[in-house]
Amino acid sequence: MLMAGNWKMHKLASEARGLASNLRRALADIDRPVEVLLCPPFTALADVAAALADSPIQLGAQNLHWEEKGAFTGEVSGQMLKDIGCDYVIIGHSERRHIFGETDESVGKKIRAALSARLKAIVCVGETERQRDENETEAVVQRQVREGLAGLSAPEMASVAIAYEPVWAIGTGKNATPEQAQEVHALIRNLISESFGEAAASSLPILYGGSVKPDNAGELMSQPDINGALVGGASLDADSFETIVRAGVAAAGAIDK
Ligand code: PGA
Repeated sequence: MLMAGNWKMHKLASEARGLASNLRRALADIDRPVEVLLCPPFTALADVAAALADSPIQLGAQNLHWEEKGAFTGEVSGQMLKDIGCDYVIIGHSERRHIFGETDESVGKKIRAALSARLKAIVCVGETERQRDENETEAVVQRQVREGLAGLSAPEMASVAIAYEPVWAIGTGKNATPEQAQEVHALIRNLISESFGEAAASSLPILYGGSVKPDNAGELMSQPDINGALVGGASLDADSFETIVRAGVAAAGAIDK
């Protein structure tokens, strides 16, 4: 179970350090198999890394460039993220795809760059409202998963997690029902099994994201193919994120995942 907070473009470095310290205190009793991950903006990574030093809480970034170094003004490489203390990086978030024009091809290059920098990748996929209405959910998710992960080996999949985030549920307060989410999670696990084998599929963490809140996290996390959450808005407040993490802990305990 992986409970991740995506802070997006929120929190100044000092605020981020405070939130990370509060969460560290609040979640001090939480240990494996539940992993907690905080993904602040680039400018707060160093402060949050310091606040989390020697704690089991992991650090992640929200994006990276696929090249290791070079003349790429404004970009940040995987090696730079690893160097500052990141364990994870989010790749292909729908805001990056839709606002900044990322494609399955660039997502694929970023995944490979993350793995070669020894970062774990959280690869985001999900359909828009129009695509769901037109019954394209399966085709869209299938394309994003297949093209994003093309060329990876089964052992490399051990460093990959997938986040299913229906675009219509992000920041809207409209979460997918547990049944809707479970259906797509099962589809993703099947796709991984076809491409990388049963072992890679059964150990793949598939997170749900999109308006996860303290009051819906328990039901979502107890679905058999949901192995965690990628939480946006509700991860910006220590109490609400703590409640969500504890819902994950309870679900992990109940169904042993
Ligand atoms: P939200 O965002 O929880 O605010 O809907 C989720 C995400 O975009 O990762």
